[in-house]
Amino acid sequence: MEELKRRIVEDGIVINSDILKVDRFLNHQIDPQLMKQVGEQFAMAFAEAGVTKVLTLESSGIAPALMTGLQLNVPVIFARKKKPLTLNKGTLTTKIYSYTKEIHNPVYLEENMILDQDRVLIIDDFLANGEASLGLTRLIEMAGATVAGIGIVIEKSFQDGRSKLDQAGYSVFSLARISSLANNRVSFLDE
Ligand code: G4P
Ligand code: NA
Ligand code: NA
Repeated sequence: MEELKRRIVEDGIVINSDILKVDRFLNHQIDPQLMKQVGEQFAMAFAEAGVTKVLTLESSGIAPALMTGLQLNVPVIFARKKKPLTLNKGTLTTKIYSYTKEIHNPVYLEENMILDQDRVLIIDDFLANGEASLGLTRLIEMAGATVAGIGIVIEKSFQDGRSKLDQAGYSVFSLARISSLANNRVSFLDE
């Protein structure tokens, strides 16, 4: 997505060779017009996937997920990172490993939010090691539903998340694929 790549180059800040800060349009301040285009791109990419629901993880996945659900005309669900006050028997949970913090964090989803006949599209802002997306696939599979695909706004292709998701057999579509953040510069895979 050319407009997204332009914004990454113009407004993104390379923190180090692993981390890109995009607080001007995605992770802190959010650009609604850009998110609208992001939603349109995901809706086009997964138009034939029979999506019935969109699932993301709070908080930064919500904006692109909401715009995608709007375009596909399906509900949008976000898995929670905090245990609901009323944790009932029907709450699905799985632990997601964070490479940066080196801990496992639980995430939660009400069981009846996703039904076994659902085809669920996962949307997330970043793909690094793939642990968040894989955690969401586990929740979907626990609910007995099907993963319709995985849409990523910014993929860091030099980390191993993409290959893990490909190997697991999921249909992955990323709007921007970054091959390197070395030398304070953003390089894209298709350059
Ligand atoms: P993984 O899911 O692919 O394994 O990634 P990892 O554990 O490394 O990511 C932990 C958090 O850091 C996630 O946000 C993820 O979106 C974010 N992240 C990973 N790489 C980058 C990056 O290069 N830049 C930025 N800005 N974020 C990155 P989170 O903790 O779930 O927080 P939230 O922002 O969704 O609330
Ligand atoms: Na995220
Ligand atoms: Na994030």
